Amino acid sequence: SMSDDNAWQFTLGMIKPHAVASGAWSYIIDIIEKSGLHVISRQELTLSDDRARHFYEEHADKPFFINLVSMMTEGPVMPLLITGPNAIQAYRRLMGPTSPEGARMTHPDSIRAIYGVDKTRNAVHGSDSAESAAREVRFFFPEFVQKIPTADELAEYA
Ligand code: TYD
Ligand code: MG
Repeated sequence: SMSDDNAWQFTLGMIKPHAVASGAWSYIIDIIEKSGLHVISRQELTLSDDRARHFYEEHADKPFFINLVSMMTEGPVMPLLITGPNAIQAYRRLMGPTSPEGARMTHPDSIRAIYGVDKTRNAVHGSDSAESAAREVRFFFPEFVQKIPTADELAEYA
């Protein structure tokens, strides 16, 4: 249920281009799996400018948006479908804070502390809520998301 701290969840992780290109991606997946979460599917693809803007549309008005989109399109990214108990928050904790420099001070074992370069090249993305996880899993793994039949469609089976 919603109040269960160990509710089984799905979330969307994404390894950013610099960490795919350097090979850090395999160590990042190790950290995720050693934590008890599971990477059940992954892809490697290059985002178009339009698709990167769409993915990060909540940040369209931010001063860093142009840099963010150009960084996310500079090479292949690796979207990850991650699952496990309390996966959304558990994976955000593994990632660490947005700024790798801050993360190295306060969360030195986090993925961003270890593999982040700067506030834009911070190694990984992770969904930040149940709503963003649903949207972002659907964005990269639409075949994974089951369609719930409408009442009319169900009536055909009655
Ligand atoms: P945000 O949602 O604030 O961080 P998080 O990824 O921790 O949820 O920002 C989204 C991404 O935008 C962030 O991962 C990297 C980029 N970004 C910058 O380049 N500069 C910034 O000052 C901020 C806040 C974010
Ligand atoms: Mg965010």
